Amino acid sequence: MNKPINILGIAGSLRRQSYNRSALRAAKQLAPEGVTVNIFEIDGIPGFNEDDEKNPPVKVVDLKKQIRAADALLIVTPEYNYSVPGVLKNAIDWASRPYGDSAWSGKPAAIMGASIGTIGTARAQYHLRQIFVFLNIFPINQPELMIGNAAERFDAQGNLTDEKTKEYIRELLQSLAEWTNRISVQTK
Ligand SMILES: Cc1cc2nc3c(=O)[nH]c(=O)nc-3n(C[C@H](O)[C@H](O)[C@H](O)COP(=O)(O)O)c2cc1C
Repeated sequence: MNKPINILGIAGSLRRQSYNRSALRAAKQLAPEGVTVNIFEIDGIPGFNEDDEKNPPVKVVDLKKQIRAADALLIVTPEYNYSVPGVLKNAIDWASRPYGDSAWSGKPAAIMGASIGTIGTARAQYHLRQIFVFLNIFPINQPELMIGNAAERFDAQGNLTDEKTKEYIRELLQSLAEWTNRISVQTK
């Protein structure tokens, strides 16, 4: 039997009614048996300053601790100007430093994102994949989950109402769980 998988979920929006934070909450509820999604909120992390990287804010210390404790990561990114939002990149940068003490290296990961546009964060997701190369994060390639036209898929309370999207999220988490098991077997 596979061991339980603990996924750390991070959404790249601070917005109260964020579709991406809502999608992450949906993922927590839709996780398959044996898989748990814990959410880390990135609000309150100050702008990265290399002068402070050896004495980071408490929230960054906590973020790095939670990344290290997780078996896998789920990053839920909005698309801002065809890329990842600065607040997400900022959190990524903090947790990658100081040099030689990155919390990210070797983690299996999945990406998804929600946008009010039709392309559903595809461009941001490919930028994130590029960032993962340097961080040595291993993302699943399939399925890709771009939630376009997000305004039609969530209700006013932020609940995901679109059944197809729920199914895609389940598939994404299942794929991440299988990938995590494969990677941990390889690295034993
Ligand atoms: C600064 C900014 C840039 C944006 N750029 C894009 C973009 O490049 N592509 C896109 O599909 N949507 C873009 N949007 C719209 C976002 O998809 C929309 O605001 C979405 O709701 C953000 O995610 P959230 O609901 O999780 O906060 C942009 C929004 C902002 C505020």
